[in-house]
Amino acid sequence: MSYNLLKGKKGIIFGALNDLSIAWKVAERAVEEGAEIVLTNTEISLRMGEINSLAEKCNAPIIAADATNVEDLEALVDKAMEHFGGKIDFVLHSVGMSPNVRKNIPYQSLNYTFFDKTLDISAVSFHKVMQVLYNKNAMNEWGSIVALTYMAAQRTFVGYGDMADAKALLESIARSYGAIYGRDHKVRVNTVSQSPTYTTAGKGVKGMGGMLDFAEAMSPLGNASADECADYCVTLFSDLTRKVTMQNLYHDGGFASMGLSEAVYHNFLKGAEQAEE
Ligand SMILES: NC(=O)c1ccc[n+]([C@@H]2O[C@H](COP(=O)([O-])OP(=O)(O)OC[C@H]3O[C@@H](n4cnc5c(N)ncnc54)[C@H](O)[C@@H]3O)[C@@H](O)[C@H]2O)c1
Repeated sequence: MSYNLLKGKKGIIFGALNDLSIAWKVAERAVEEGAEIVLTNTEISLRMGEINSLAEKCNAPIIAADATNVEDLEALVDKAMEHFGGKIDFVLHSVGMSPNVRKNIPYQSLNYTFFDKTLDISAVSFHKVMQVLYNKNAMNEWGSIVALTYMAAQRTFVGYGDMADAKALLESIARSYGAIYGRDHKVRVNTVSQSPTYTTAGKGVKGMGGMLDFAEAMSPLGNASADECADYCVTLFSDLTRKVTMQNLYHDGGFASMGLSEAVYHNFLKGAEQAEE
């Protein structure tokens, strides 16, 4: 169902890899709500070809850019503004990758070259995107910039490794840049802290299945899906949230405020009883 929340708005969406990607769902919902979009991802992910069907469906050009490369980002923003014939109203940063996590390297034994890459791809790229937009004065007033994050920034989760540090940095960058972007151009910057979600990046986290089940059992409303995340992002791009900025916003069915749920407690007791037998 469309509410025309983004009628006339123009946005750049980073990170749609395949139809599991959260960015894929955001792209579809944004267009459904009346937005015009540009899709971007790395050359290598574009070569996989899956994004072409999304581009066709959304009537959106695809512009390759490595989010860690400032020259790529400058060219992306120039081309997007040329395509739109003006400035940009919203940006989704849905980018993350840790070579340490991918290679199952435990946190106590990090490879530091990989760690630098994790931070650059998953956090510093967000600063780079905003710095390029800011320097080019590419955002319309009351524009909205959103990055996706995870609760491991606040609490430690087994298997999440150095991505936890990257997410903490990402959320801090949102606050620091949000203060400047709000003051100078009335642009808001927020992070959305999403439930564990079954995507290509999600699957890379060891024990993802268990994490999903645990979060589901802990959350009073259950895990938030990628489609529900897209709905939430659309509200943050819309004019209905113009004074929300510099926030880390939990979109997780209540997980972030829970200590212990009945379901998890009963599972724990069952396990303890079985151990006694
Ligand atoms: N899946 C989850 O459980 C979950 C939960 C909370 C937050 N998130 C966050 O959501 C975001 C999107 O992830 P997803 O789960 O949709 O997985 P995904 O694998 O579909 O998306 C990750 C994207 O990052 C892109 N990417 C990697 N390196 C890049 C680079 N250098 N430049 C540009 N793009 C690059 C990939 O090509 C891919 O499209 C990530 O920030 C992730 O950490 C995911």
